[in-house]
Amino acid sequence: MGEVGLTWADSHDAAEIGYVFNPAYGGRGLATEAVSGVISAALGAWGFAQVSARTDVDNRTSRLLCERVGMTLTAHSLSTDGRNVEEVTYTTSDVR
Ligand SMILES: CC(C)(COP(=O)(O)OP(=O)(O)OC[C@H]1O[C@@H](n2cnc3c(N)ncnc32)[C@H](O)[C@@H]1OP(=O)(O)O)[C@@H](O)C(=O)NCCC(=O)NCCS
Repeated sequence: MGEVGLTWADSHDAAEIGYVFNPAYGGRGLATEAVSGVISAALGAWGFAQVSARTDVDNRTSRLLCERVGMTLTAHSLSTDGRNVEEVTYTTSDVR
């Protein structure tokens, strides 16, 4: 149905989360539940102090997902992957 991945970010106690779900299973809260669960584990059992997510500024469903799981908009930046599009970063350090 989908995947949620966690990678180390800039420092040893910061993680970046990424996710992609099959649209056939969208709109039911499955991505919300999966992302929320991985954030809880990352900030709890796995010992990270902070989890962030980066997404294109016009990726509405992804931005809504970040907000739904309680992340806060913390930065605007230009993508570093050569596409030259604006990205936003959402961050959380709270276990919900
Ligand atoms: C980002 C992505 C995972 C979001 O998928 P999604 O289907 O919106 O997420 P969910 O399955 O959590 O569904 C949320 C919707 O279900 C609704 N919903 C229904 N039951 C729900 C429940 N029990 N809990 C939460 N939401 C529920 C929500 O209200 C929301 O609908 P709305 O947007 O109309 O308000 C998906 O669009 C995707 O894979 N995009 C491509 C990959 C991508 O862009 N990744 C991010 C780049 S890093």
